[in-house]
Amino acid sequence: MKIDIITIFPEIAEAPLRSSIMGRAVESGVVEFGFHNLRDFTSDKHRQVDDIPYGGGPGMVMKPEPFFEAVESLRTDESKVLLMTPQGSPFVQAKAVELAVVPHLIILCGHYEGVDHRVVEALVDEEISIGDYVLTNGTLAAAVIADAVVRLIPGVLGDERSSEEESFSGDGSRIEAPHYTRPAEFRGREVPPVLLSGHHAEIEKWRLQMSEQRTKENRPDLLD
Ligand code: ADE
Repeated sequence: MKIDIITIFPEIAEAPLRSSIMGRAVESGVVEFGFHNLRDFTSDKHRQVDDIPYGGGPGMVMKPEPFFEAVESLRTDESKVLLMTPQGSPFVQAKAVELAVVPHLIILCGHYEGVDHRVVEALVDEEISIGDYVLTNGTLAAAVIADAVVRLIPGVLGDERSSEEESFSGDGSRIEAPHYTRPAEFRGREVPPVLLSGHHAEIEKWRLQMSEQRTKENRPDLLD
């Protein structure tokens, strides 16, 4: 899989995607990241990427031309073009699963008040938001999407079960049961005895119950 990220701050996406499991995924060749500076796709002396909004209003709007240049130079028949924006559809695990089989993702990152809407109309396949809050720019969001997608590619996580049994996988309606490791007692708090029992069926039953309980407490919206 190839993921090209187009942004005025490539360094914001580079740091997390060159580290840890993402860094190893690159080394092993399952994914290739391209970090592109949007300013490299401008043709004026000032490398300008934004301008004042038509119709007035605060802030600046990102110009269409550099995005068109960038996408047209990177796009192939296998590409899907995403735009990171708080106005996009919410990013969820099912979307990560869907994107994990796309051979080439091009992720456009907005900044300032937004991106000229002709970019959305003509270039973008999907507008995606990582949550109902506003970041200073979409590059952090692009790194979040890339991480969530790449970890699902077979071979990226050491143990394949870790992505199958986690929160939001399956029908996405429950969060995971709590986890414990040694010591069995810590500052007066004991690990639930069932986890030490070796009874796999009982452990499974306990995990389902805990999943239900924690979903009620932390994510009642998932049960609606
Ligand atoms: N850019 C700014 N805020 C964002 C968000 N919540 N999701 C995606 N891109 C963004």
